[in-house]
Amino acid sequence: MLDKKVALITGSTSGIGLATAHVLAKHGVNLVIHGLLSDQEGQALAIEFEQTYKVNTHFSNANLKEPTEISSLVTDAVNVFGGIDILINNAGIQHTERTETFPTEKWNDILAINLSAAFHLIQQTLPHMTQNRWGRIINIASVHGLVASKNKSAYCAAKHGIIGLTKVVALENAENGITANSICPGWVDTPLINKQIEDIANQQGLPFEEARYALVTEKQPLPEMAIPQQIGEFIRFLCSDAAKAITGSSLPMDGAWTAQ
Ligand SMILES: NC(=O)c1ccc[n+]([C@@H]2O[C@H](COP(=O)([O-])OP(=O)(O)OC[C@H]3O[C@@H](n4cnc5c(N)ncnc54)[C@H](O)[C@@H]3O)[C@@H](O)[C@H]2O)c1
Repeated sequence: MLDKKVALITGSTSGIGLATAHVLAKHGVNLVIHGLLSDQEGQALAIEFEQTYKVNTHFSNANLKEPTEISSLVTDAVNVFGGIDILINNAGIQHTERTETFPTEKWNDILAINLSAAFHLIQQTLPHMTQNRWGRIINIASVHGLVASKNKSAYCAAKHGIIGLTKVVALENAENGITANSICPGWVDTPLINKQIEDIANQQGLPFEEARYALVTEKQPLPEMAIPQQIGEFIRFLCSDAAKAITGSSLPMDGAWTAQ
């Protein structure tokens, strides 16, 4: 049933977004691939998807810090595909530092990319979903949308915020065949967390692999990271008809982190 649907996945040039693009393309979904690659690298990735999965693709490297670039991202995607059925707000960045020294510029960037971009994209794609009376909005939040950790003021603010946004969008669109949900992963094996592992390795004088284990087990009972493809498979389920009653939810996928 997902065959020939159109999905816009922000940040799909790396990590969770890229793995999700592979999962959805395998099910015949046409893709707007998006992320901070050069035009040349992005086009090459898009062509790879077309050849492997026989789907149609469009690449964009819109900077999500810029609302005008977000508008062009949606306009270009609609011009190519005629509409957007599935929106996955996945792109995100991280910076860890205590609140009293947290740089304002980092705060602004994290709020812009991890939260405001999702608002702009939801606002601009909803008319297409409403017209079709079908849509799936999936926001990649985090356990840090449900609970806090030290040194993550901006990230926690953005992730708690996106969960609130998701609930409002779910309420407003429940009668239109559109679902909106947040996924709240614990640790996922992607480049986003390498800096946090390196910090532990440096502070505690540990080899990278041991620092990685220390980071994961500090709060997460399951002593291993999720792999990005697992999030992609969960997203595919949320896009299916079987999941049409799941809306407004914040869904942990966190190795029991928030069960404590
Ligand atoms: N990795 C984890 O442990 C983890 C856990 C919970 C939640 N998350 C969330 O999952 C999402 C994906 O993270 P990931 O781990 O796959 O990260 P990643 O670093 O592998 O990928 C991030 C993607 O976002 C894009 N991006 C970054 N800044 C951008 C900007 N200004 N404009 C446009 N695109 C931009 C990058 O190009 C890339 O495609 C994020 O929202 C993150 O907060 C990750």
